[in-house]
Amino acid sequence: MFKVNDNYLKLPGSYLFSTVGRKQREYQAAHPDKKVIRLSIGDVTQPLAPVILEALHSAVDEMGNAETFRGYAPDLGYEFLRNAIADNDYKARGCDISADEIFVSDGAKCDCSNIQEIFSLDNKIAVCDPVYPVYVDSNVMAGRTGTYDKNTEIWSDVIYMPCTADNNFTPEIPKETPDLIYLCFPNNPTGATVNKAQLQEWVDYANKVGAVILYDAAYEAYISEEDVPHSIYECDGARTCAIEMRSFSKNAGFTGVRLGFTVIPKELKAEDVSLHALWTRRHGTKYNGAPYIIQRAGEAVYSEGGKEQLKAQVAYYMNNARYIYNGLKEAGYTVSGGVNAPYIWLKTPGNMTSWEFFDYLLGNANVVGTPGSGFGPSGEHYFRLTAFGSYESTVEAIDRIKAMKL
Ligand SMILES: Cc1ncc(COP(=O)(O)O)c(C=O)c1O
Repeated sequence: MFKVNDNYLKLPGSYLFSTVGRKQREYQAAHPDKKVIRLSIGDVTQPLAPVILEALHSAVDEMGNAETFRGYAPDLGYEFLRNAIADNDYKARGCDISADEIFVSDGAKCDCSNIQEIFSLDNKIAVCDPVYPVYVDSNVMAGRTGTYDKNTEIWSDVIYMPCTADNNFTPEIPKETPDLIYLCFPNNPTGATVNKAQLQEWVDYANKVGAVILYDAAYEAYISEEDVPHSIYECDGARTCAIEMRSFSKNAGFTGVRLGFTVIPKELKAEDVSLHALWTRRHGTKYNGAPYIIQRAGEAVYSEGGKEQLKAQVAYYMNNARYIYNGLKEAGYTVSGGVNAPYIWLKTPGNMTSWEFFDYLLGNANVVGTPGSGFGPSGEHYFRLTAFGSYESTVEAIDRIKAMKL
């Protein structure tokens, strides 16, 4: 008789966004006349920029011609894309990362969840609380997190680093020493960032205790302040302790197109075992590469036209972020984030729980957001709104919230 991987059975409840979606559908079915506005899931809404479309079209044409047709992509990704990434995302920022340390994939979610496979099950992970759920759930599936306590919503073998108003939503070095440290800046869900000196402390700590930092920089394009690092490799010593994951979803609107990459420096070793070599092996065995057409679209992100058009797209969303932030402040909410990230993190009014506020907002303003408690126990009494809507719907949503009686 076959047996399932019973680690999956340990996963609590349904996935956060399924519950949010179900509640929205149920409300809409009961109130068909209401126009519900979604400021919940972190999905982009603006169409692909013209340079990206051009690159896609021309790559499609290449595939229809025997001379330019491409089959399987090289294991690590096409050199034209890896060179563009190395030059623009790293060398231009003074980071010593070469093209052969970059592994192209179809997005950061897979990389964030798969990367734990190259580490022993004995490793202890540390995560921010609240956290992007993928880091914890992928470790649950692997069997690395111990047992779950329904009341505290805590796994016995996970080190939680609370990110609260008291520490400006940035984690502090934990008392217990972790082996793998998941960090994400600019942060989803809180929209918080760290400055370079703060990130340097993490790098120094990881090198000191022999931990690896798994650094998710999916929202790097939204950084507006000078002192906020765009890559962990801006810090001295990061080459011996950090893996960085990036996505084209939020900087170029590729949530449906799918493209991302992971950087593993060659110096990153467990004694004499290179993590770069392990991930190369894993990539070669389990993955056949992002499509050629999409990698050409990724290359266009780094063209002059691409940079200009995508800067405008990010500015469009950040204009929404400002509208949300300022509107909520005017309405008397306690708000953070929204300056270096497309997420606004607000304290629920009147000590409502996150889900109580979700229902209240849906019922009274017909606006859908994401309950902070869905990201971890320290997210309770908080709520996330995203700047990824259209400007018009964002304005309408915030005006409705401002008019809502509390
Ligand atoms: C922190 C973080 N990392 C990764 C991802 C996933 O990115 P991708 O679309 O490249 O899979 C998201 C998506 O919302 C995210 O918020």
